[in-house]
Amino acid sequence: MNPAWCERETRGFDIHKLMCEASQKRRGELQELSPDIQSEEAFSLLMERVYQVTGQDFRQYKDTTIKHRLETRLRLTNNKTYQEYLDYLDKHREEYNYLLSTLLINVTQFFRDKNDWRIIREKVLPEIIARSKERKSGTPSINIWSIACASGEEPYSLAIILREILGEETEKINIRIYGTDIDEASLAKARKGVYDKSKLEGVAPELVEKYFHKNSSGKYRVNADIKDMVKFLRHSIINGDNFAGFDFVICRNLLIYFTRQLQEKVYLKLYKALRPGGLLWLGKAETPVGKAAKLFHCLYYKERVYQR
Ligand SMILES: C[S@@+](CC[C@H](N)C(=O)[O-])C[C@H]1O[C@@H](n2cnc3c(N)ncnc32)[C@H](O)[C@@H]1O
Repeated sequence: MNPAWCERETRGFDIHKLMCEASQKRRGELQELSPDIQSEEAFSLLMERVYQVTGQDFRQYKDTTIKHRLETRLRLTNNKTYQEYLDYLDKHREEYNYLLSTLLINVTQFFRDKNDWRIIREKVLPEIIARSKERKSGTPSINIWSIACASGEEPYSLAIILREILGEETEKINIRIYGTDIDEASLAKARKGVYDKSKLEGVAPELVEKYFHKNSSGKYRVNADIKDMVKFLRHSIINGDNFAGFDFVICRNLLIYFTRQLQEKVYLKLYKALRPGGLLWLGKAETPVGKAAKLFHCLYYKERVYQR
């Protein structure tokens, strides 16, 4: 994302407005769209404009998802066509924020796909820990990358499970968990590490007790020992820097939104990010495609865990 734009333009962003509009949509108080909304030329122009202004590149995301979400913004801003909406964006710069929030689907939760976390706890992480101890170079270290981490629930879940497995031994291993996303608003929540009670539904009560602190407003703050294990950075998996040397890369529920061509490109990037033998965890509907399919060996198919 274009950092200058982001800093300048997200100041007036009002999440309540977005929520209000969503309930307006549910009540059906919104306007009908005109048939030429489907104009491909205007759609490409719109995606190009979003890229130029915000630095966020949706041009290779699947059209169907993007168009569906765009429709919501068109209705809510009373524009009937992509062209009208383009003109609207020119006059209402703050609309870029609402548009980005709508296009970046940042739904997540602690221990999402609960049953799959059993394999991570019982097989995947113990194997990664064992390998870190086998490497004969000073203090054992483990590098983990949670891509598209949204508001942080995924990397924090991982830090909690690592502490559960390692106990006091946690301090004897150099554990670095990086959480990256392109959405600065989500990352700000992640860095805060404060969640409503409803967000903790997937967390066992004994883990809530052990790793969260309830504050005076009834919200739950992740404890410092968990927070310190995770570092959050803004990064796009499409055009961001290439990273390397990871033992475990988690990229769940993002690649389903990309075209097959872009998925292949990203899988090759993930391959390079892993050490030989490193593990990759994908979302339920995701699997390496094209040339990348041959580069990974599937360890647990149902849970989508692959090995480089
Ligand atoms: C559905 S959430 C997935 C959250 C989490 N991984 C999970 O499975 O619960 C998708 C996230 O991808 C992020 N995202 C979208 N495009 C991205 C990109 N090019 N690079 C990095 N993150 C991206 C969005 O901001 C959003 O937070």
